[in-house]
Amino acid sequence: MSDNKKFFSHNTLETNVGWLIVMTVFVVAIAGLVQIVPLFFQHSTTKPAGGVTPYSALRLAGRDVYQREGCVGCHSQHIRTLRSETERYGPYSVAGESVFDRPFLWGSKRTGPDLARVGGRYSDDWHRIHLRNPRDVVPESNMPAYPWLAKAPASNVGDISAHMRAMSRLGVPYTEEEISNGPKELEGKTEEDALIAYLQGLGTNRRAVDPVKTTATQ
Ligand code: HEC
Repeated sequence: MSDNKKFFSHNTLETNVGWLIVMTVFVVAIAGLVQIVPLFFQHSTTKPAGGVTPYSALRLAGRDVYQREGCVGCHSQHIRTLRSETERYGPYSVAGESVFDRPFLWGSKRTGPDLARVGGRYSDDWHRIHLRNPRDVVPESNMPAYPWLAKAPASNVGDISAHMRAMSRLGVPYTEEEISNGPKELEGKTEEDALIAYLQGLGTNRRAVDPVKTTATQ
């Protein structure tokens, strides 16, 4: 009983809901910090994995289209370290592959397949047909058609130079030349071209440089 008289004992916590809430938040916050803060300083999470380079202007515009059209609502871009995933999609994803992804598009819903390594799996023409009407190449598909992308100029996504400049402020190493050439790269391209360029690059940067170390059997 003498315990109860101490200024602060376990009893105080168990009988006082205010203190219980405060101390629970305190403990969870410390535990969170211990897990999260080191990630800001760990090279494996802050530096690009081998072969991962910043998005070109066209691919960045394609990424904007991907976000705008809500592709992330049906497609993840994150291969987990499970055999069933690596057998189907390829090497599992690592943090260093996403350092230039702002915001990241890992997603969590898989109505369609994961797209983290879809780059190079199909031809550009396949993607064109598939985006205009998925049923033409996959009869049982329930993916929506996106025919308007072929008619919209890529510059529709907005000021690409401003976007690249904002990304460079966040640490993406674009050169001034790349930034000022951004609009030129989009000239004559459609949103569909940009989206396909984005899809065709997914997962390829890393695979090209580091094919052995990224396999599931390492
Ligand atoms: C309503 C859910 C849904 C949405 C939204 C959606 N997809 Fe799909 N997607 C699917 C399904 C289901 C499949 C599998 C059947 C097929 O290939 O069409 C698929 C397949 C794909 C494939 C082929 C993947 C592979 O490995 O075979 C690509 C590429 C793709 N989608 C890209 C996109 C893009 C880009 C967008 C946004 C413009 C998008 N999807 C939006 C459901 C969706």
